[in-house]
Amino acid sequence: MKVLVLLGLVAVALAQNSHFEGDKVFRLKPVLDEHVTLIKELADSMEVDFWRPESPQLVTIDIDVDIHVPALYLDMVSTKLHQSDMEHEILIEDLEEAVNRERDSGPTPRAHSYTRYNNWNTVQSWINSIASSNANLISKQVIGNTYEGRPMTILKLGKKSSVAKNAIFLDCGIHAREWISPAFCQWFVKEALSTYGSDAQMTSLLNQMDVYVLPVFNIDGYDYTHKSNRMWRKTRSRKSGSNCVGADPNRNFNAGWCTLGASSNPCSDTFCGYSPESEIEVKNVADFIRRNKAVIKAYLTIHSYSQLLLFPYSYSYSLAAHHSELLKVAEGASSALRSLYGTRYTSGPGATTIYPAAGGSDDWAYDLGVKYSYTFELRDTGRYGFLLPESQIKPTCEETMLAVKYIAAYVQKNL
Ligand code: ARG
Ligand code: ZN
Repeated sequence: MKVLVLLGLVAVALAQNSHFEGDKVFRLKPVLDEHVTLIKELADSMEVDFWRPESPQLVTIDIDVDIHVPALYLDMVSTKLHQSDMEHEILIEDLEEAVNRERDSGPTPRAHSYTRYNNWNTVQSWINSIASSNANLISKQVIGNTYEGRPMTILKLGKKSSVAKNAIFLDCGIHAREWISPAFCQWFVKEALSTYGSDAQMTSLLNQMDVYVLPVFNIDGYDYTHKSNRMWRKTRSRKSGSNCVGADPNRNFNAGWCTLGASSNPCSDTFCGYSPESEIEVKNVADFIRRNKAVIKAYLTIHSYSQLLLFPYSYSYSLAAHHSELLKVAEGASSALRSLYGTRYTSGPGATTIYPAAGGSDDWAYDLGVKYSYTFELRDTGRYGFLLPESQIKPTCEETMLAVKYIAAYVQKNL
């Protein structure tokens, strides 16, 4: 009996949210090889959560390294930083406070809102209701279930047609903790519906093409960030032989799989998985895109944070065959984005613009033949990182719409 009560308590404790009281987020600025070595040593000797880049293996000199350091390790980290003379600053003084401030628009309502971070149940009911109340422009399609059994539903936006239409594929929420991303997909659907018929470009886009929207790719992970650990990144799959959960879905695509910038350690945040497409969510999406590859002309995937517009390649330093066109379109999209609130984006191939990292969805889609393949890294550049306050959802989505519409218009003109 006592044992059962104890087990019960342990289960409740485990199910509760992680706490981040006193944890800090540092920005380190390594300029010497010794600094890089030190950062890797820190990663080996304690539990630091890498925000940018996402793993210690990706650290090189002259890049900003944002790490979340649990309170327990602060003394150790500060001592080492001072000994090494590495330039650094504190981005977030108290992570728990930042998590609480993220919902700066008040307590979360049960109802869906485009300017709040909706949890999975709310997003799921929103998917069903928006599709049924706009049957003329939206149809729903389940492409499979997640590891934990949640249905992955794609919303197909476009005027109904008896002939096959070309299409753009848009996904959000590959990484669980990047909450602004699913918020953007929801915003995109709303904007498409509310401006169809009045905005000339949206009307022409949805008349001529379809847009496939996957509002949350990594649903299990997203749910986990709401219920248990706000900083979770990966899927939630398990395999006997390891106690560590999940793989990085954006290292699990079959594009130079696990050769660069990914880890084969199941406990790493950039674990590439046990084989390409070992993650069922990745397989479901890859199968869908393969099945529809004759019509899919663009692949857009939304992440955060860093304000970047990336295109292939990330698994190699070689330039994509369509490099100059991809760059030109990215630069046009970035300046459209900037025109609204002045937000600056950097564009370029993944490998040189952030870091080489294989197994990404953008490279995979491009090599399959989807020429216009882009990864967005939305706001901000580190002030709030993944904990972008809800008050920034609206401006972020508005400016991102301009970039997405710029790319869509270009694709439409060049079918
Ligand atoms: N921050 C993203 C990630 O690490 C960038 C993705 C860029 N594309 C890529 N194929 N690595 O997943
Ligand atoms: Zn991401």
